[in-house]
Amino acid sequence: MAALWADSKFQTTSFKCAVVFLATSLVVGVANGCRSSRNANEILVGQYGSLTGDQATFGQSTNNGITLAVDEINAAGGVNGKKLHLITYDDKGDPREAATAVTRLITNDGVVAVLGEVASKLSLEGAPICQKYGVPMITPSSTNPKVTEVGDMIFRVCFIDPFQGFVCAKFARDNLKAENAAILYDQSQTYSVGLQDEFEKSFTKLGGKITTKQAYQKGEQDFNAQLTAIRASKPGVVFIPGYYNDVGTIAVQARKLGITVPLLGGDGWESPKLAEIGGDAINGCYYSNHYSPQDPSPRVQNFIKKYKERYHTTPDSMAALAYDATHILKDAIGRAKSLSGAAIAEQIARTKDFDGVTGQITIDEHRNAVKPAVILEMKNGQPTYVTTIKPEGKGEGAGGRE
Ligand code: PHE
Repeated sequence: MAALWADSKFQTTSFKCAVVFLATSLVVGVANGCRSSRNANEILVGQYGSLTGDQATFGQSTNNGITLAVDEINAAGGVNGKKLHLITYDDKGDPREAATAVTRLITNDGVVAVLGEVASKLSLEGAPICQKYGVPMITPSSTNPKVTEVGDMIFRVCFIDPFQGFVCAKFARDNLKAENAAILYDQSQTYSVGLQDEFEKSFTKLGGKITTKQAYQKGEQDFNAQLTAIRASKPGVVFIPGYYNDVGTIAVQARKLGITVPLLGGDGWESPKLAEIGGDAINGCYYSNHYSPQDPSPRVQNFIKKYKERYHTTPDSMAALAYDATHILKDAIGRAKSLSGAAIAEQIARTKDFDGVTGQITIDEHRNAVKPAVILEMKNGQPTYVTTIKPEGKGEGAGGRE
């Protein structure tokens, strides 16, 4: 009886997966011009991302950045005479779909490496699968430390949240002169839970005090209860390490309740939709980020020019990180003795002083990148460069203007 039950449950799940596969293949088939044949002159690279769903701009920007890099690489002759062929699946921001997408990329499509995800929670779904099959994965933008801790196949080209939490805390203390801070975070996102913790550690270490800590759940629309408690605690700044869609709504409700102090957040704010949702309420608020489009360096400005020509919009930091991740992967494949996962991973690990759009990238022994962060202020609905904060003990970086 029990066996039968388990069996039928299994069948339902696999059937659902098949439907998901079919649906995503259709979307992807169109996106890639239906090129699904395997070809000895091609190297297959996989991508999983949230092209639709709650955080759709994360996946879309990332896809733009990767596609731009892949086309550029192929136009310049590819890698060791072979063209890169990108296979992309939309995980819709859903953990189960993310796992399904990565399994399919590896077991069905036979990709040599995987790019993705943005959200740490989703990277933590894909990473164990890549690790199990020995296929290298580079997340362009997941900042939670746990992601690369999964194993030696998992890399990232962005900084991690202990540093990002420090950056926000230091900015709150030094620049905003905040004596105390309230925190409002998303309980359902690994990223948000981790970043609020790191902020608290650094902020208290720097002599600040946390007045209250409030949380919300995915899908929550009414933040009045949490915001009322925050208002009563009289903070000098409110730290909100959430994703842009929630942050926009929270900003509107906070201002309505008469909370006038600056709101501060992390890279999860980065989206053209933040100003659209937050309107005037988000102006005068700050967040830490991976790069600023106002960085005058030719490397950054050339990238922006190419990106704008193709997509008619300014690239956000996910697009920039995705572009860097793709070029780092290409270089690693180029140096690798074979297309085996181990050979490629060995070379990704050797990445040193790569001149990226998001700064100089060296992969450290924990498979993370150590680089500066920038702080941006929302002014007239535009993220505007304020300052660059470097990791302690690190020299000049290129994460933004000095
Ligand atoms: N760092 C976020 C996470 O780990 C994702 C993110 C990166 C969001 C860059 C916006 C910009 O979940």
